[in-house]
Amino acid sequence: MKPARPAFADDIMASLHEAFRLLADAVPNRRSPLHTPTIASLDDAGAPSLRTVVLRGFDAEARTLRVHTDRRSDKARGIARDPRVMMHFYDAALHVQMRVAGRATLHLDDAVADAAWAGSQRSSRMCYAAPDAPSAIVPAPPAAPQDTEVGRPHFAAVVIGFHRLEWLWLAAAGHQRARFIWDEAGNLTADWIAP
Ligand SMILES: Cc1cc2nc3c(=O)[nH]c(=O)nc-3n(C[C@H](O)[C@H](O)[C@H](O)COP(=O)(O)O)c2cc1C
Repeated sequence: MKPARPAFADDIMASLHEAFRLLADAVPNRRSPLHTPTIASLDDAGAPSLRTVVLRGFDAEARTLRVHTDRRSDKARGIARDPRVMMHFYDAALHVQMRVAGRATLHLDDAVADAAWAGSQRSSRMCYAAPDAPSAIVPAPPAAPQDTEVGRPHFAAVVIGFHRLEWLWLAAAGHQRARFIWDEAGNLTADWIAP
């Protein structure tokens, strides 16, 4: 039997709705491949730089995504210099790729960062407790820090306000690709584009 065609097929606004539904699910769902997207920023030389991160928040209304990082990291420095970022999500089982472009804001010692830290588990806080900054040359791989609370001064919440989302759904009957662009006033232009 052929698999049922999903309700969003051939329906551009239903495809956007599905994209938002998947992003919302990816935040709490650790088993979703969309929980660990790739984020691209620009490095010191203006070259693209990619890395995996954990998706910590999605606000459909505000059109924002949130990730956490070490404020001493290369990516934090890159974002501080040029806030343009792109996030890449791929779920092989769902045959879905999403590319989301936006501008990132670093939250260091404000209420957004405090709330993000308060909502972080001990195992996540541990990532920020290392005395050495990410990418520092170390004599040997360091042991996991014991006191997780010392990480707060290194912690940053990164909120990405996005204005463009590209949806790609691979299907035997024909791949479907859609581009959603929001203008400054929040007006949406939605177009099918050739896959
Ligand atoms: C599964 C996985 C999840 C990760 N999650 C994060 C994360 O949420 N935040 C983060 O800063 N780095 C995360 N990392 C590490 C980054 O991919 C990267 O190695 C590190 O942040 C240094 O990147 P940078 O030097 O470009 O700043 C994760 C790596 C993996 C493999």
